[in-house]
Amino acid sequence: DMGGHDTYMHKEISEQPDAVDRVLRGRIDDRFNTVHLGGLNLDPREARGIRRVKILGCGTSYHAGLIGAGLIESLARIPADAEPASEFRYRNPVVDPDTLYIAVSQSGETYDVLAAVQELKRKGGRVLGVVNVVGSAIAREADGGTYVHAGPEVCVVSTKCFTNTVVAFALIALHLGRIRDLSVAEGRRIIEGLRKLPGQISEILETEGEIKKLAEQYADAKSMMFIGRVRGYPVALEASLKLKEISYIHAEAYPASELKHGPLALIEPALPTVAIVPDDELLEKNRAAMEEIKARSGRILAVAHREQEKADHTIVVPKNEDELDPILMGIPLQLLAYHTALALGRDIDKPRNLAKSVTVE
Ligand code: F6R
Repeated sequence: DMGGHDTYMHKEISEQPDAVDRVLRGRIDDRFNTVHLGGLNLDPREARGIRRVKILGCGTSYHAGLIGAGLIESLARIPADAEPASEFRYRNPVVDPDTLYIAVSQSGETYDVLAAVQELKRKGGRVLGVVNVVGSAIAREADGGTYVHAGPEVCVVSTKCFTNTVVAFALIALHLGRIRDLSVAEGRRIIEGLRKLPGQISEILETEGEIKKLAEQYADAKSMMFIGRVRGYPVALEASLKLKEISYIHAEAYPASELKHGPLALIEPALPTVAIVPDDELLEKNRAAMEEIKARSGRILAVAHREQEKADHTIVVPKNEDELDPILMGIPLQLLAYHTALALGRDIDKPRNLAKSVTVE
């Protein structure tokens, strides 16, 4: 049942305010300015002993893991990174008892992720799952974890589950942070930011008409560049994946800081750039990258917190806390991919060469 929507993808994009509300519900502790995540099976002493966090997933879930790693590193001050599970399992990784491994999967059935979890457990690693489908293979195999409560995701391409997974990581980061060195005031700041998300996502969804018009203007591109820095870079990676998988337009994502090391050679009017430009400590750096692109006659569509004069067009999104901004900046880019694919007449719910759950190696 599509509930009045033309595609499951559109239905699921629209459900995000409720989905985010669901992942937050019952977990926030206003007294201690932290969150409760009962299923982690991690007592405070164990949580204090974690020296590193390694996040494993594939595709969109890997991108959610990259944002998750940034959240854990900035809020809990634990070195964290994400890696495709499919790469990790084939490189005979060193499994370290002081590292917390987190496997991310919407379906909970992706074979490469499951195999990585099994390899980790065989070597004595501690693995948590951040999973959507309750009772799935990865959820069962992990030592603990948290469900992301996005609800059933029918469309092959992942949208609401990506958003909810990132919110789940914010909860894990806040939980670990408050056990370690994140202050009461900082905990409060993040909780207030989290509570604003559903309403701010609704505000973004209301701008769909404008995003549709922009998508129609850029749909003639043969290829598109997506750029961002630090928190914005995984947003660029995910937006570029969404665009290529449903519109079949070639897209690349680059850290804006790396453009000058080669990819600027590609910039010309026929290769537009989508720039993720949050109002944070990197704003001036991002503006400089846009200037480099303009100097080569590149078209720019910015996703920002205010109109960007260097860009040809700006999609303005509401500001949250710097750490939570990536969650909001991803939403208009789901709609951009959606309307680009629609303008090109693609079969959005059944993109070619992609299965909802990849159970092959
Ligand atoms: C992209 C997409 C895929 C999945 C990937 C992992 O929209 O849907 O890239 O994210 O196959 O799937 P899960 O999260 O089920 O492990």
